[in-house]
Amino acid sequence: MKSYIKHDPWKIIEDKFNPDYNKISESICSLGNGKFGQRANFEETFSGKTLQGNYVSGVYYPDKTRVGWWKNGYPEYFAKMLNAPDWTGIKINIEGEELDLAKCKVENFSRVLDMKRGVLERSFTVETESGKRLEVNSTRFLSIARDENAAIKYTVTPKNFSAKAVITSGVDADIKNEDSNYDEKFWIEIDKAADENIFVTAETKKTKFRVCTAVINFLPEVIDTKSVSKEKYAAKQYTVQLTENKSFTIYKYAAVTSTMYYGENELLSKTLESLKKAANDGFDTLLKEQENAWDEKWKESDIIIEGDVAAQQGIRFNIFQLNQTYTGRDERLNIGPKGFTGEKYGGTTYWDTEAYCLPFYLATADKKVAHSLLVYRWKHLKKAIENAEKLGFTHGAALYPMVTANGEECHNEWEITFEEIHRNAAIANAVRIYVDYTGEDKYLAEYGLEVLIGISRFWAQRVNWSTDKEKYVMLGVTGPNEYENNVNNNWYTSYSAVQNLKYTLWAIDFVKNNYAADYQRIKTVCDFNEQETEKWKDIIEKMYLGYDEKRKVFIQHDGFLDKELIPVSELDPKVRPINQHWSWDRILRSCYIKQADVLQGLYFFENQFDNETIKRNFEFYEQFTVHESSLSSCIHNILAAKVGLFDKAYQYYLNASRLDLDDYNNDTCDGCHITSMGGTWMTIVQGFGGMRIKDGVPSFDPIIPEKWQKYAFKIMHRDTLLKIEVVRDSVSVENLGSKTVKVLIKGYPAEIQPHSKTIKIL
Ligand code: BGC
Repeated sequence: MKSYIKHDPWKIIEDKFNPDYNKISESICSLGNGKFGQRANFEETFSGKTLQGNYVSGVYYPDKTRVGWWKNGYPEYFAKMLNAPDWTGIKINIEGEELDLAKCKVENFSRVLDMKRGVLERSFTVETESGKRLEVNSTRFLSIARDENAAIKYTVTPKNFSAKAVITSGVDADIKNEDSNYDEKFWIEIDKAADENIFVTAETKKTKFRVCTAVINFLPEVIDTKSVSKEKYAAKQYTVQLTENKSFTIYKYAAVTSTMYYGENELLSKTLESLKKAANDGFDTLLKEQENAWDEKWKESDIIIEGDVAAQQGIRFNIFQLNQTYTGRDERLNIGPKGFTGEKYGGTTYWDTEAYCLPFYLATADKKVAHSLLVYRWKHLKKAIENAEKLGFTHGAALYPMVTANGEECHNEWEITFEEIHRNAAIANAVRIYVDYTGEDKYLAEYGLEVLIGISRFWAQRVNWSTDKEKYVMLGVTGPNEYENNVNNNWYTSYSAVQNLKYTLWAIDFVKNNYAADYQRIKTVCDFNEQETEKWKDIIEKMYLGYDEKRKVFIQHDGFLDKELIPVSELDPKVRPINQHWSWDRILRSCYIKQADVLQGLYFFENQFDNETIKRNFEFYEQFTVHESSLSSCIHNILAAKVGLFDKAYQYYLNASRLDLDDYNNDTCDGCHITSMGGTWMTIVQGFGGMRIKDGVPSFDPIIPEKWQKYAFKIMHRDTLLKIEVVRDSVSVENLGSKTVKVLIKGYPAEIQPHSKTIKIL
């Protein structure tokens, strides 16, 4: 854990130069605009610890896998989100001395991510080895309003000298992934220039995505200009006169586009067109647009916490990152666990999206955004069916991938690839959540039901009848707790499967009765026959779900209770995290749970359990949970809040919200935990705010942590924006929309007129 980031409600402030923390700050201060993004690398040369990272959403490489080659059914590759051409470099060389913060004395350093405006600012003074003092200020943003563009304003001011300097600025496509299995480079050069236009068009090997990255530099008073061009690199070198105490400002504009959006023949012209437009409009206009666009985002998604700056900064940081990672404008894109902040985990899509991110986008953005996330999976249904076929399933059974970039499975550990099938449940459940939240039942007819049928068929084939138990069992499974593999009857997976089947049956009836033409189409497309549902009904009735009569808890999986059940509190802190200290063999045989497993099920299907059941299971499983996945704390927070364990709820909130800012797990240098940030948002809205949707009606049952004076959040529900404000003794729900809405506050129904509010005592 580290706490060098200064607390501030809107800004992430690093106010000392600490080269050892540079990779952490690079992750934390990352920028993105949904289409492309980057780590907060320095513009100037830096020979210290750094992960230079630029990423273009949707552009991936099928890196050859290292494992599982002799096991049939294994994916052949692991998709890597690609580290892409770098357009940020502005290299300064003064009389032969390169400006490199690793080699200079650095003073007054600050790197500030202004989350309100979506802008990264740096300033510092350096003294070079020869004694030249130079002040540098830079401002950079990736335009969220024009998602092909970005801009930098970079100012240098000599403090004790005048001299000629050489400034080099261009595009570097000679990039290597930090995360690559065979140390290969993944880009080849297609075209480049450093004349009137500066650009590099690079193509990914195998997948053949072309990315064109173009820049324009504006400098005052240039003495001489030279083009520099080498393999995968194009830049201009400007000789300029720097004068003591006179600021010299460079403006650099960029456009980043790809063949995901333009044909090969027009890619360059479109990129240059976009670039020139941005440059003509100028830095101040682009910046104003950026500020306005972020203002709009914050209007709907901000959460205010009064009385706890660390908590305020934490939640805004999570919201900011989610908003800059995914904008919902393109149904082919998704949310990688590290977003644009690092390369770990490869791929782009995990079950994290449906389980932890969907609620945030549903409640804080136009419904098109969540719709795009769901349609992404509908588009991959064919591949999910092929994926299941590879494993021996038939007749349209769909197994969605554990990790994917294009719908194909690319995870490569059999115990996860083949067995962590609960991902299917989250995807089916997302359909239910979406329809309940938006009320758009047409979604079922248009897309959802096809996905539900595919997943239900999978469950129906994945179980088998046990003559011994006289029940359906599900063998060879890995639950969300990846610290136990190849188990039988994982309660979470089996219970979720039953819920999926039930919902699919309901959805079939619903579509049949309300969208008859669509129903006929779906029957044909899916080759679906209602006879199939007989087996589904039988499974619903006779699924084996482990239950321990003595402790009155659900059993995580067969045999869990045979383990040596020693609470985590009795573990020597020196062996934590266990995944860094124990052999895998020891972990597998231990009782320690990586992340919410049974509890994840109680969270998803909460309305089917009473509070006592939730509390009993919470107290039983929490004691063995090591939370070595960032996705664990949020579920624990929400359940703890629900059953009245408020101190615990607060502790879990803190763990979740400042996970990256305080580098709790010592891994922020690899990138931020973007998908778990959706979970952090849930901790406030669902955990403390107690927000649920009950029969289509938003319901609030809030508590307020002791340290806070007030917190407030907004949710967009069925085209009405509601503002919920919780103070120490009351809660108010304000209707900011134009229609009267019904809500439940602490269980009491209320009708709120437009522009008015209802207040209830806590
Ligand atoms: C978690 C998974 C998650 C993945 C990506 C793993 O550590 O156990 O549940 O999908 O990270 O975030």
